[in-house]
Order: sequence, then structure tokens, then C-alpha cells
Amino acid sequence: MPDVFPVPETMRARALCSSHASYQAMYEASISDPESFWREQASRIDWMEPFHTVKDVSYASDNVSIQWYLGGKTNASLNCLDRHLATRGDQTALIFEPDEPSDEARHITYGELHADVCRIANVLKKHGVKRGDCVTIYLPMIPEAVASMLACSRIGAVHSVVFAGFSPDALAHRMLDGRSRILITADEGVRGGKRIPLKNNSDRALRSCPDVHDVLVVKRTGGETTWLDGRDYWLHEEAAMVESTCECAEMDAEDPLYILYTSGSTGRPKGLVHTTGGYLVYASLSHRYIFDYQEGDVYWCAADIGWVTGHTYIVYGPLLNGATQILFEGIPTYPEASRYWDVVDRHRVTQFYTAPTAIRALMSKGNKYVDRTDRSSLLILGSVGEPINPEAWKWYHEKVGDGRCPIVDTWWQTETGGILITPLPGATALKPGSASFPFFGIRPEILDAEGNVLEGEAEGVLAIADSWPGQSRTIFGDHARFTEVYFSKFEGKYFTGDGCRRDKDGYYWITGRVDDVINISGHRMGTAEVESALVEHNDVAEAAVVGFPHDIKGQGIYCYVTLNAGVTGDDELRETLIRQVREAIGAFSKPDFVQFAPGLPKTRSGKIMRRILRKIAADDFDDLGDISTLADESVVDDLIRNRRNRH
Ligand code: WTA
Repeated sequence: MPDVFPVPETMRARALCSSHASYQAMYEASISDPESFWREQASRIDWMEPFHTVKDVSYASDNVSIQWYLGGKTNASLNCLDRHLATRGDQTALIFEPDEPSDEARHITYGELHADVCRIANVLKKHGVKRGDCVTIYLPMIPEAVASMLACSRIGAVHSVVFAGFSPDALAHRMLDGRSRILITADEGVRGGKRIPLKNNSDRALRSCPDVHDVLVVKRTGGETTWLDGRDYWLHEEAAMVESTCECAEMDAEDPLYILYTSGSTGRPKGLVHTTGGYLVYASLSHRYIFDYQEGDVYWCAADIGWVTGHTYIVYGPLLNGATQILFEGIPTYPEASRYWDVVDRHRVTQFYTAPTAIRALMSKGNKYVDRTDRSSLLILGSVGEPINPEAWKWYHEKVGDGRCPIVDTWWQTETGGILITPLPGATALKPGSASFPFFGIRPEILDAEGNVLEGEAEGVLAIADSWPGQSRTIFGDHARFTEVYFSKFEGKYFTGDGCRRDKDGYYWITGRVDDVINISGHRMGTAEVESALVEHNDVAEAAVVGFPHDIKGQGIYCYVTLNAGVTGDDELRETLIRQVREAIGAFSKPDFVQFAPGLPKTRSGKIMRRILRKIAADDFDDLGDISTLADESVVDDLIRNRRNRH
């Protein structure tokens, strides 16, 4: 495989940014005079009142304060919908592709989506939702999910979307933390031919959320569900009783737009807060340039709205830009591994954006599922969520894109709100596995452990030296934690938690997390969350969880469990523990291995040496590094012996 893939001429001919030199010029301008750059970009959205100050940011660890477009008033729903009505009211906004391919796809125009959003907004108001209230949304990938998010933003409520794969426990935690008093869910979700009991899950979660007084239920399947009169309402019945117009609330640029929970190194998932004005500008700009979205294109981001990718690159970015896009309810392998490509052909998709784990899963099914499809409509492919390995990159490029489509390998995080490091399709020669260059306004730095800035070719941890408008402003209810996690490690910089290398040509290569966050099939998880689920079992004394390399999922979950004295670990206990983790978090968090460990490798001060546990889980026994600081070195031999026996 060549080391570098030049920009295809056809892409250069159409792209908004069509050479590396023009990228560089615009990038330099954005860095040398950020205020002018972002002032100009602010006109990408409509303002109800103009802002008076572009930026007021302090990254100082004793006073982290991030504000953009101060004084400006706007509304997300206005910008995603109302603004388009005169010019594209009859244009399709969403093409809803249901799980079952024999069920017809549904085209929803901007005009129709506007009416749906207004009705839901009026229903929310009728149920007592006010400006600033948090509304939890636990929905599958159906149009009502998008409409509910926009309905919240329309009336100034803050949405907190919980991925429909999360367990009742995880849902309850998020509703309690966000102080939600209302939940929007569905009777059931449908994925890969299976039904997911969302309303029943919600009812279980609600047992520990006494403050949730109203539940609005979307009828997706009509399947049996439990029901509590006076609390539960069918959304379609409520929506039929209200007007299809609803005024947009005038929101301050810094009013919260949403809370989205994500995992960190320690503790429970934290609710990152994104605000209105800056986030919208960044979502619109990044979507426009990185996917080179143009009139007539059919864009498809195959993420779930439960994750940040769905928030920024399904809901806000594309709708701000007046795009026509696919909303896909299903999974890549149902009914067959050609499903993505069948959908691409049926709707003539031009941009397709997914995660490496999906690419690897489809690659493992063989080429026949790709070969029998046409895919000639595709122009640009995207990748997100984890490092993409060269084999998967090559397959995506050659097989899926027939060697014709640039791959934008986009690096970003829930915290960043939008893509920060990425190729631009018409401008960047690609190196497989490299996210390549910083987007406009982004100042990445590679630091050594002491925080020294490394220049030129270098490897270290990735920090960002200055703010951008799409950045998260705080952790809901815990600004001290926000400061501690992101701004205390390296003074005056945003610490990403990722490792990174810069090569001689200035390309950035993300090397993976440097903390205890793991990435399972593109789903972000904290090892501490899995550990706390394990130690809840009466027989468990201690648990340590690490990620290990996994061919399809990127990383798998490996659990070392120390049992209480007198308890023997057997397969039954192993199954029980695995079930316990699934129930605490969700099915996607199912541990791959549980190894019973009589002791864990600890330093004399009692700190678990995870580095050693990671190596053993990866079957990398030869170079365990310095183990002389261990309190008891023999623990390591036991762990290795047990690991070997499991093969
Ligand atoms: C990882 C997802 C390598 C990274 C948008 C980051 C990536 C974490 C890439 C954030 C990429 C995301 N290459 N690694 N292109 N994109 N990551 O919050 O470790 O779910 O810190 O946001 O995913 O995951 P999150």
C-alpha cells in the first residue's frame, strides 16, 4: 500500500477547500487572528440579537471560564429548521430507513420536520417543561428522536439523550444527575430484527427516579408495555391535541443546549454541557468543510444519536447546513452484511461516515457483500471514534470506495463538540491511520510528561492550547471536576487524555488513550465503571479492569477479580459477574474475560499497577517493565500462569 494517497482530481474540482495551500492559508488566518476568523464564521447562523464580544476565555486552573459570542441571542431549532423553510421547506431533511428493509423508507421534508418539532415543543410546554429544564430522551434511531431534541432547543429546554443501549441503571443515574422531571421514550426499539423493551427499561429506571412526573412514549411497535396512568402519555395522542406552530425561545449564546454523559478515568459518567451559539457555529462550519456537503448531496452518518457523533453530525451540523440525510434505524449486518451498501445504492448516498469497528466487522464477513453492490454515488468516506488500523483503512478505501473516495479520519471527543483533527477531502493527501491536520482554529500541542511542548517530529500526550467555539463549557453540577480533569494537568491547556505522534510532514497520529478510558466498538467506557459493577457482588473483594486489543471491537474488556476468602471462582460465578456488568451499564459493556486472581500487582503504597495487567491481558508476557516496586512480585507469575491456562 502506498504511504500517501493524493487528493483525487474529481474531489479537487468540486471541493470548497481544494488545495493544501488554501487549507494552510485559512488555517493560518484562523490561528493568527482567531477573533476575526470566528467573528466572520458566526454569520453561518442567524442571530436574534448580535453578540458584542467574540470570545472571553480563561484556561487558568483556578478560574476555567469559556464563553463565546457574548451577548448574542439565537436558537438552535430556528437555525436548523425555520431558517430553511422559505428556500427548502419541501426538500427532504431526513430519509428514515427502517430496520426492516422491506419496510418503506420515509422522506420527511424540512417543512414536515418543523411541524413535528413544534408539536412536540408544545406538548413539552403543556407538560410543564420550562426554559432551562432538563429533558431526558431515551429513544431509538427514529425521526421522533431528532424532533424531540430540536423541540427541547426550541423552547430553551436542555436535552440529555441517553443511548438506547444503556441499561435501566445507567438511565436512572443520568436522569437523577441531570435532575430531569420528564422522559421521552418509545414502547420498543427495533434493531437487527430484535425488539428492545425501552418502555419497560424506563419503568425499571423510574423506580429510583421519583421526581420524573411525566413520561412521553413514542409508539414504534405497538408491543406490550407496562403503563402508569397519570404519568405515561402516548406522544402521538398528545401531539394531535396541540398546535403545529411554536415560537422559538430567544436563547443566550451561552445558555446550555444539551448535556451528554461520557466516561472518564474515575467515578461515574459525567454530564458534559454544550452551549448554544458557539456550538452551532462550530457544528455548521466543520460539517460543511470536512464532509464537503453541497446541494443535492445525500449525507449519511451511521452513528447513533445517543453519542456525540449523532448530536453534532446527524442532528445539528447537517440540519444547520440544510442537508438531506439518512437516518438509519438498523445495524450493519441485518439482514445481511451488505445492508449499508444497499442503503447507499437505494438512496444514492454521497458521504458516508462510520466507525472503524463497523468497518472491521463488515470486512470480516468477506468481499462478496460489497462486490454485489454498486456504491458509485459515494464521494467521501469518514471514520470516527477510535484509531483506524491500516488493513481496515485499505479495505474501506479500496473495496467500499473503489479507490475513488477520500477517507476523512476525524479525531474528536464528546468534550470537543466537533471534529478537531481531520483531513479535508479536497485538500489533504491521506496517510492511512493518520487524522492528519488540525481543523480551522485548533491549536494542538504534543507535550512530554512534564508538560514541555515538543516541536517537529515528536510523540507524547495531546493538548489543545486555545479554545474553539464548540468546546464543552463544564460538567453539569461539577465545575471543579471539569477543571480538575481537563485543565489541571497542564496549566493553561485543555488536556485530551489521548496520546499522539507528529511525523516529519506534520501529520498527527492519535495513539490511543493514556488514561483508564477504554474504547469498545467505538463506545467509550471507564474501567472504573466496570470495576464498581463487579465489586457490588458479595463474593468479590477487589476488581481491576483493563482493555486489551480485539480484532473487531478495537478493544475488549478484561476483568481481573479477587474473590473473598473461602470463595472459589467457577464458570457460574463468572457468568453472574458478566451479567452484573451488563445490567449496570448496557449490553455493549459485556466483559470478554473474567480472570479470577488471588492477588493483584500492587506497589507498596497499594496502587494497582495497571500497566502490568494490560500486558498480561494482551498476552505480552516478555517485557513487563520494571516490577521491582511491587509489594509481592510472585503475584505476577500467578497471573501469567492463570492467563496461559485460559487459552
Ligand atoms: C477516540 C467520539 C483515534 C479518542 C467522537 C478520543 C479517536 C475518544 C478518533 C473520544 C480517531 C475518537 N482516531 N481515536 N479518529 N476519534 N477517538 O467522546 O481516544 O465517544 O479521546 O467521542 O475516542 O470518544 P467520544
